[in-house]
Order: sequence, then C-alpha cells, then structure tokens
Amino acid sequence: MNKVVSVLIDEETLARRVSELGRQISEELEGTTPVMVGVLRGGSIFHADLIRNISLELQVDFISAKSYGATTKSSGIVKLGRDLESNIKDQDVVLVEDIIDSGKTARFLVKHLKLQRPSSIRICSLLSKPSRENFDIPIDYLGFEVPDQFIVGYGLDFDQNFRNLPYIGILGA
Ligand code: IMP
Ligand code: MG
Repeated sequence: MNKVVSVLIDEETLARRVSELGRQISEELEGTTPVMVGVLRGGSIFHADLIRNISLELQVDFISAKSYGATTKSSGIVKLGRDLESNIKDQDVVLVEDIIDSGKTARFLVKHLKLQRPSSIRICSLLSKPSRENFDIPIDYLGFEVPDQFIVGYGLDFDQNFRNLPYIGILGA
C-alpha cells in the first residue's frame, strides 16, 4: 500500500494507558466477574492487552457489527455480525471497542446487549473522536481522545490493512 502512516500514539504510551484502564476496571468492578465483550475486529488487540491488565476473575466473549462501506466514513447503517455465545443475563458487561466516532456502532451494540437483560453494561473504548454526533454514548473508560483524522494500527484498519501495526498512526496520502 502506498500510504504514509505517521505515529500518533507509540507502543509505550499505549501500554501505559491500557494498564491504567485495567487497574481502574479492576478497582471499580471489584466483587464482580465481568464479561469482557470485545468488538471484532478492530477491538481485538486492545481487548487482548486490556484483559491481561485486569486482576479480577472475568469472562471473555466477542461480538461484531458491520457498518457498511470500505471507506473512511461509515454509512450509518449498522448491522449485527457475530453475536455473543455467552448468556449475559444478570452479568456485568464491559463492551471493549477500538474507537467511537459517531457513536452509532456502540449505540447499536448496547441496545442489542440490553435485550439479554445484563445487570450492567459499561463501555470501554481505546479511542474517541471529537466528532461524536451527540449520540449520547457515555464512555465509562476511555484511553485517548484523537483528532478527527483517519486512525490505523493496534487493531484499527483501513480497508483491512494496518491492523498489525503495534502503534496508533494517522493515515496520510
Ligand atoms: P461509529 O459507529 O461512527 O462510532 O464508528 C465506529 C467504527 O467505525 C469503529 O468500530 C471502527 O471500526 C470504525 N472507525 C471509525 N473511525 C475510524 C478510524 O479513524 N480508523 C479506523 N476505523 C474507524
Ligand atoms: Mg473497521
């Protein structure tokens, strides 16, 4: 791919923040056995690092949503991809997202998860863009605010590429 990627958040900064988030979740959810639901595919790397920084008994599951189009702007039409395998009724759920942009995906997934009547749902997102169109998505645990540019790496893709970069980068021309 002839694209330039400039480093926005390096590996060390990511690791430090992920460990802080893990500690915060461990403290705030003490006494529970949360179900850590990773949002595929972008949230998979963050999820894998995050759960290893949580000192609670926990469970793991994954869900995916499709937001149509292989472009840098999501279409706004969100559909369920893979559903959970666990039963989350009366469980404390943490939804682990890579990035919240408009908030449509998170809003859709929270609504879907609520159908199973979990006792709580929290959102943990590594990144958030300021462009969030006031979808009123409360992010309980947030890694970093990022500029309104296209972000890749550490799980995030552009057209399925760049997910394996160990840092967060900005895609240039
Ligand atoms: P939202 O529904 O607008 O909040 O968008 C959320 C989804 O769009 C994320 O889970 C990502 O998969 C994707 N997305 C949004 N912004 C970016 C970006 O800058 N880089 C890569 N993926 C993004
Ligand atoms: Mg994506």
